[in-house]
Amino acid sequence: MEKSCAATCDSSNHNHNELSRKALFAGLATVLTGIGLSALGATAAEAATKYKVALASKIPVGSAKVFTVGGKSVLITQPRAGVFRAFKNQCTHQGAPLGSQKLLNGKLVCNQHGANFNASNGAVVGGPAQTSLTKYTATKSGNYIYVTI
Ligand code: FES
Repeated sequence: MEKSCAATCDSSNHNHNELSRKALFAGLATVLTGIGLSALGATAAEAATKYKVALASKIPVGSAKVFTVGGKSVLITQPRAGVFRAFKNQCTHQGAPLGSQKLLNGKLVCNQHGANFNASNGAVVGGPAQTSLTKYTATKSGNYIYVTI
């Protein structure tokens, strides 16, 4: 229902209810856009980046090599021919770096206290560590290994 304001208003357009609704929706749109941009900003900040790391030939079958990727120390393994995996180069027991190494029956071994991790999926195989290694995505394209962090 339209309200008349002719007695108190000198506007030729007395359709203020319509204007109020338009103003309300415009304000709401501004707020939603702001929220949308904030969410987009957070998503962009958390977005993963794919890095070209090394020639695949630098990571022989049955070994793990350390690389700095996007400022992080990353361990890339090749537990089986053509299968590449990437992990944070940090033991989950007390944080020691695992380092480049030859795999021992498909396992990464921490030299600090002897924890063992599956070099294919990062799972704990032997303590004292209780938590799997942090995994990243490793892919091979052409002759290169890419890691997404
Ligand atoms: S820090 Fe690796 S086993 Fe303790």
